Amino acid sequence: MNYAALIQNRKSVREFQNKVVPFQLLEQVKTYYRKSARHLIPEIGTELYFFGTDAREALEGAAGYHKFLVGAPQYLVLLTGEHPQAYLNAGFLMEDMVLKLTDLGLDSCWVTFADSEQVKDALGIESELKIAAIVAFGYGVKTTRRLRLNIKSMSNIDIQAKRHYFEPKRSVSDLAHWGTWGSRDGLDKAIGFYDDMLWEALYAASLAPSYLNRQAYGFLLDTGSVTLVARPDDYSVPIDEALSLGIVLHHFTVTAENWAGKLSWSFEPESAQLPEGHRAIATAAI
Ligand SMILES: Cc1cc2nc3c(=O)[nH]c(=O)nc-3n(C[C@H](O)[C@H](O)[C@H](O)COP(=O)(O)O)c2cc1C
Repeated sequence: MNYAALIQNRKSVREFQNKVVPFQLLEQVKTYYRKSARHLIPEIGTELYFFGTDAREALEGAAGYHKFLVGAPQYLVLLTGEHPQAYLNAGFLMEDMVLKLTDLGLDSCWVTFADSEQVKDALGIESELKIAAIVAFGYGVKTTRRLRLNIKSMSNIDIQAKRHYFEPKRSVSDLAHWGTWGSRDGLDKAIGFYDDMLWEALYAASLAPSYLNRQAYGFLLDTGSVTLVARPDDYSVPIDEALSLGIVLHHFTVTAENWAGKLSWSFEPESAQLPEGHRAIATAAI
């Protein structure tokens, strides 16, 4: 898959056509999950379930921003085993599936949930594993009018159609820090040293979907290393925060691996000097 192109093409789609996703495409998604999907921590057990449009009614009230469920012809539901990095891994793996959907010409949107047992009951899932992530998908409505989510907070979201609306994202220079948190001195030189490839990885990270579009993270770079840092966020919910961190780690990793070779993340990063409330999540050598 051409990850860089897929990452640039993906956006959250919340309005779907009544068009059925062909059986052959669903089979391709299943095969991809079984054989090729990228895992962050392969030893964490996961299961992927597929649901049709009936799931919409079942999930009503159990999933979606302020219980507003994205109605779609299909849903992917990922389950995970227990592990300290279970949701980081789930975010990484499910984003890989989202980009596979994009590759197959399908549109999608992540869907939040609060209570694993409530979702399992609603969907009739019998498993020891816990619900980790939900994604709605299908063929988006083709229009220049886009469904705008004006996200103020979890309980204050306006949904309205607006022309050519693209949600603003944080820029590369806003996401990246050099040497110490908050410092950008030397960042341009460092990016130049990596022949703009580091910029591409950071750019891919800047396009990552995140819970409420909060992008509550940043990258602390230093000679030969990169650390993903979680920023404190008032709207943060632990599962969605960890999923968003896994997603951004995915975008950075798959793009950086084009030039840095396989990135090996350590999840017990040495405590870098960070401002209060910030947490180092993962470190890798580059
Ligand atoms: C963990 C997670 C949960 C999300 N839940 C919802 C949701 O319930 N409803 C929704 O409309 N969008 C949801 N989103 C999508 C985000 O709002 C979206 O990624 C963000 O606004 C940025 O827009 P983009 O994906 O088009 O780049 C979720 C995203 C993530 C990562």
